[in-house]
Amino acid sequence: MLIHIPRVLGPAQLAFVRDRLDRAGEDWVDGRVTAGYQSASVKHNQQLAENSPLANELGDLILAALEQNPLFISTVLPDKVYPPLFNRYAEGMNFGSHVDGSVRINPGNGRKLRTDVSATLFISEPHEYDGGELMIEDTYGAHSVKLAAGDMVVYPATSLHRVNPVTRGARLASFFWVQSMVRDDAQRTLLYDLDSAIQALAASQAEGEVRTRLVGCYHNLMRMWGEV
Ligand code: NI
Repeated sequence: MLIHIPRVLGPAQLAFVRDRLDRAGEDWVDGRVTAGYQSASVKHNQQLAENSPLANELGDLILAALEQNPLFISTVLPDKVYPPLFNRYAEGMNFGSHVDGSVRINPGNGRKLRTDVSATLFISEPHEYDGGELMIEDTYGAHSVKLAAGDMVVYPATSLHRVNPVTRGARLASFFWVQSMVRDDAQRTLLYDLDSAIQALAASQAEGEVRTRLVGCYHNLMRMWGEV
């Protein structure tokens, strides 16, 4: 399930993050520092050094925003969230087709995290650069994603994906992974559909007992599939 989550960061948060990244200077390093064997050869971008004070500060701001975001919570069902990383694609940079590594070690606490969901939060506005689309492939073909600053896309980490070459300007983004309480994308999708229907029923003040039974189905599926 590929979901667009609008306005994860508000204008003030976005301006703060943008200002800090624009002044990061020497903190930008070669993006291959976090690439696995498979993806290192196709990765051409810059990143903030993992666990650097600046990456930690801005990452914490994003994590706090995600905790308040109902759409993120209902679509991803997060168990553990990897500390957000930050990348920059200047003119001529790109990231060829790859699948993200399945397990990562959280540099903050040394714990393993299974990457069920990949997330990209756009920090540059689309008009600031040409190219730089995130291309995500699934059984329905390739999807081109280029969102407003502050918006985020989440997609199954099992997907083949790439970032097209930037041909003008620079593309700033944050990216990270989530271990979900429900590892299977099809099960998460079903739970999200059910949850959305329940929310719509609640908004329409539909008959109470029907809603109660649907809520019961949701929690019983979570009990069956969820791991905490
Ligand atoms: Ni990737």
